[in-house]
Amino acid sequence: MTSTTISSRNKKRIAQQFSRAANTYNSVADVQLDIAFDALAYLPSHYKTGLDIGCGTGRISQRLSDRCDRLVAMDLAFGMLAYAQQNNEIPDPSICWLQGDADSLPLASGSVDMLFSSMVLQWAENQHLVMSEISRVMAPGAKAILAIMCDGSFTQLNDSWSSIDSHRHVNDFATAESWSDAAKQQGLQVNMREKQYITWHHDIKKLLSSIKSIGANVLLSSQSSPAINSTLSQNKSALNRKTLQHLETYYQQKYAENMQLPLTYQVCFLHCSK
Ligand SMILES: C[S@@+](CC[C@H](N)C(=O)[O-])C[C@H]1O[C@@H](n2cnc3c(N)ncnc32)[C@H](O)[C@@H]1O
Repeated sequence: MTSTTISSRNKKRIAQQFSRAANTYNSVADVQLDIAFDALAYLPSHYKTGLDIGCGTGRISQRLSDRCDRLVAMDLAFGMLAYAQQNNEIPDPSICWLQGDADSLPLASGSVDMLFSSMVLQWAENQHLVMSEISRVMAPGAKAILAIMCDGSFTQLNDSWSSIDSHRHVNDFATAESWSDAAKQQGLQVNMREKQYITWHHDIKKLLSSIKSIGANVLLSSQSSPAINSTLSQNKSALNRKTLQHLETYYQQKYAENMQLPLTYQVCFLHCSK
């Protein structure tokens, strides 16, 4: 496995949290699996060289490798890659595991025929930067299938927090249109569609834990107030019992159905060609 240096503070925290979640990820990340399978359905052909950006535990990489002669499975989090390598059902010599950052892809220009990424790019530093990197590594005629969490995600949680204070507790998600525009600006042809997924939770603790246990509990610092007491940050004292109770009561009253709390994942699927 090749290693790289992770630059910004946000990136280090993202990598740490996902690394910590590597052992539990597959047992809890059900909605992420549904989304990745929906994205895979867009990939009918066979390709020479593929890239899976943000491969996580590698469970989709194995399926992608069936459709490529050679696959680079890349992730920012070393812990995820280590898990992926150790837990491959059948070690697959056609997969090259690589540590790297979507914002600065460690690959040569024009070297990839198929690029796949599911539930990753919402963590990228800058839409335009990551799309220019994606376009750069795509060979002429290459395809990219990108599933990205976008605006409309976690709205119930965001609203419930705003009944408590005016700080940001949930990351901002860019709109589907802005992702599509960013790809077009890099000269890619784009077909885009959106789909909503809803997960249901018995109580607010389980709902918050569904985010934390997959490693997605980093509140990006450029979006947060310095004094923030965050659901998604590491500040454990922030979530005292009273706050949690208030959050739960508001969430229950406004959103519960059959005693279950919904959490929305709004996902845009970009099907790009170069
Ligand atoms: C929600 S998981 C998705 C994993 C896998 N694609 C799946 O569908 O199960 C997000 C993954 O993206 C990785 N990630 C986050 N930011 C990244 C970046 N800038 N570059 C590469 N990988 C990144 C995380 O380490 C994590 O493994």
